[in-house]
Amino acid sequence: MKLTVIGCGYLGATHAACMAELGHDVLGVDVDPEKVARLQAGEVPFFEPGLSDVLRRNLAAGRLRFTTDPREAADFATVHFLGVGTPQLRRGYGVDLSHVESAVDALAPLVRGEHLVIGKSTVPVGTAAALAQRIAVLTAPGSHVELVWSPEFLREGFAVEDTLEPDRLVLGTDPDRDDSGPAQVVAEIYREILESGTPFVRTDWATAELVKVSANAFLATKISFINAISEICENVGADVSTLADAIGYDGRIGRRFLNAGLGFGGGCLPKDIRGFMARADEVGAGRALRFLREVDAINTRRRAALVDLVSDATGGDVLGTNIAILGAAFKPESDDVRDSPALNVAGQLALRGASVSVFDPKAMANSRRLYPTLDYADSAAAACEDADVVVVATEWAEFVHMLPEELSDVVRSKVIVDGRRCLDAAAWRAAGWRLVALGGPMRV
Ligand code: UGA
Repeated sequence: MKLTVIGCGYLGATHAACMAELGHDVLGVDVDPEKVARLQAGEVPFFEPGLSDVLRRNLAAGRLRFTTDPREAADFATVHFLGVGTPQLRRGYGVDLSHVESAVDALAPLVRGEHLVIGKSTVPVGTAAALAQRIAVLTAPGSHVELVWSPEFLREGFAVEDTLEPDRLVLGTDPDRDDSGPAQVVAEIYREILESGTPFVRTDWATAELVKVSANAFLATKISFINAISEICENVGADVSTLADAIGYDGRIGRRFLNAGLGFGGGCLPKDIRGFMARADEVGAGRALRFLREVDAINTRRRAALVDLVSDATGGDVLGTNIAILGAAFKPESDDVRDSPALNVAGQLALRGASVSVFDPKAMANSRRLYPTLDYADSAAAACEDADVVVVATEWAEFVHMLPEELSDVVRSKVIVDGRRCLDAAAWRAAGWRLVALGGPMRV
């Protein structure tokens, strides 16, 4: 099939490449000429394992190309995925829908005949209904654009795998219209994926929109739950990691997303729980999501707790100390530093007068751009040079498997603070290091 993907950021670029991988003819559309040029040259503008192979393979096969021209999109295909960003508003908790709106504003007047737009972006409930009205006003007489919503659940670092082997596909359609036509088109696009047994949830617009934000709210809640328990563990000397293992064996709870530590960041979970709260207020159900305020507060508190732990490790005051921060990305296998807990902690320590040296295997360029005032090193060992404390803030495999002996002669004091509870505590202690972990003791 011929498809376009409008918006070639994280979601859109991955989606375009993966749809081509499924055998479709795909045109990626983005307003940013530099992004389009890089993608067209086979270069992924961000770090995502495996994506550049898929991109290059499909460019070479002639199944994929990119453009900035919405007219080309309207002429190329009758099916258009919408994958533009929906960031948090600069003021308040709400969601900025301007990119979604300008994308449909650019496309709708240009289409002729019957077209289908498949929204993938994470949006507040009610967005699809409002956009459908907007599109209807903009579409030429005699033409029609059907709008459906099929939210995306991919994780950074696993974007290709999550797109080609999703846990489920969700399709929300206009509750007042017969959805058999659009559902058939979507089923055809994803035929290979559906044939492998992937659940296909068909519902209305509002439910589909809510599925996405509910999933992210649940994941955020799970992380903050274990981090709240870790605050108790800290006070009584209990081991939250063992506790998570033990409760995780209960199939109803499950062990995934129960890793206590520095908490969640990135471009999705923090802004999605806030946008969800803002929307709940607007629809008169604010009380229902009041607990998410606490989820957010527990999460933010973890950053302050790590700063305090580092202060304690230096004897109560970080002023004038050298601190190595290992990790800048909001999680491993990503170069994304949006709302990065690691960089937040680095910034707080710098403000308290510490000399902070940051190293990340992939996120150095983005970190320098967003936080130009911090100091950056070229390797973990360089960041640790003369350090009074080493802090692991993102659990990259490189740090998890680091040998204590490699750093022992580099640092000033053999003190390490594990902000992600990812290190082999016994090995570090055996090598003569003092290891403290965020969230209470690590017994093993
Ligand atoms: C998240 C969701 O997991 C995806 O399903 C969703 O599609 C995506 O948001 C989105 O809305 O686009 P992502 O932001 O890539 O994906 O990252 P996650 O793997 O969810 O991790 C989020 C944060 O939680 C990271 O900072 C991570 O370090 C932290 N985390 C995760 C924990 O602190 N503990 C855990 O046990 C798990």
